[in-house]
Amino acid sequence: MLTFTAELARTCRQQFPALNRLHDGKPLIFFDGPAGTQVPQHVAEAVSHYLLFNNSNRGGYFPVSQDSDRELGRALQTFATFVGSTDPAEIMFGQNMTSLTFSFARSLSQTWQTGDEIIVTATDHDANITPWADAAASRGVAVRLIPLRPADCSLDMDSLKNTIGPRTRLIAATCACNASGGLNPIDRIVALAKQVGANVFLDAVHYAPHHLIDVARWTCDFVAFSTYKFFGPHLGVLWAKREHLERLTPTKVRPSKNVLPWNWMTGTQSHESIMGGCEAIEYLADIGRHVMKQPDTPLRPALAAAFEAISEYESRLVWQLIQGLLSVSGTKIFGITDRDHACQRVATVSFIHERVATPKLAQALARRGVCLWSGNYYALEFTRQLGLEPDGMIRLGLVHYNTAEEVTRFLEIYRQVLQEDFAIGA
Ligand SMILES: Cc1ncc(COP(=O)(O)O)c(C=O)c1O
Repeated sequence: MLTFTAELARTCRQQFPALNRLHDGKPLIFFDGPAGTQVPQHVAEAVSHYLLFNNSNRGGYFPVSQDSDRELGRALQTFATFVGSTDPAEIMFGQNMTSLTFSFARSLSQTWQTGDEIIVTATDHDANITPWADAAASRGVAVRLIPLRPADCSLDMDSLKNTIGPRTRLIAATCACNASGGLNPIDRIVALAKQVGANVFLDAVHYAPHHLIDVARWTCDFVAFSTYKFFGPHLGVLWAKREHLERLTPTKVRPSKNVLPWNWMTGTQSHESIMGGCEAIEYLADIGRHVMKQPDTPLRPALAAAFEAISEYESRLVWQLIQGLLSVSGTKIFGITDRDHACQRVATVSFIHERVATPKLAQALARRGVCLWSGNYYALEFTRQLGLEPDGMIRLGLVHYNTAEEVTRFLEIYRQVLQEDFAIGA
């Protein structure tokens, strides 16, 4: 087994200047990864290196533009490898996952007919619901919402099986739920879609910091994600099978050449963010090379090693957190809490305290130096189905730079806040 040790976590932390920030003389606890992770020094340097030395638009005759084009070509290759594709023409960049999905939904929906149906899920962020619902409305297409199973907030696969049919054109589903941390069964979703010839659009935004995206194994059609969720800058990325990109019509201005994949990207991209995103991928690959003790390992196997080690490490942390939270009476977690199903979740935990208003609890924890989020984090169907609007839940998201000491400190702070601010003994 490839092990991500506590010592390696400390070494990784040294590469993230933000993690040194103090609050009341103590280090902040960064449990806010699901809304955006911190960034290693090398990623920031890659962004500034591009701006200082290679900054140019695409396709010029002169050296800076040619250098920039070479770097962008390398970036397409790096991102293709990251998702498990061999074809750099299948990678599109954009402002963020939401914008890419709105724009792509417009193109894909042109192939739908009145009477068709699409499927979205209550485990999804609204960025993988509203773009499809809007596109469906413009084409007279029905939208079916697959609910959660309230016991563990997993996707109700029986409902999916019963809902899918010959008129289903698309299943839009997340790989990992950004509210519960639950992993959706991608293989089963894709298999069901294939039975009726539907496409599958996967949201890998919440999955990408924890597990390796694998479009070749998943045999899905589209995968979207954002690099700011896995140690990179603000940048959206969409992978689509080449056959779809050749078949569909992109939204583009006339002078933009009809050459993949750039014809699918509107306007000039944030080249510096693309460079930073590549460096985030290299950062992860270096973790893999470290745990394998093989510094020359190529990118894809290095990433596979990194995520194997990272996910096992995060799993240890999240069970420490879950057990600690559950030992505080009045705490209710929304998601998998049964260790036998550990492999079906990532290290994101959402909870409420039955006797404290969630925004007040979130503010009290934040005042003591815990970086966290509360509300619905745009997983609106999730909180609606569970009757948790408008306050939602507190969300703690752990990544590989978090430590067991931070979890212990957080649990102490949680008990202290309940006692001191709300007069509740744990
Ligand atoms: C699961 C999930 N999907 C989609 C998004 C939207 O991503 P972006 O901010 O890149 O549009 C988020 C953002 O929080 C998310 O957590």
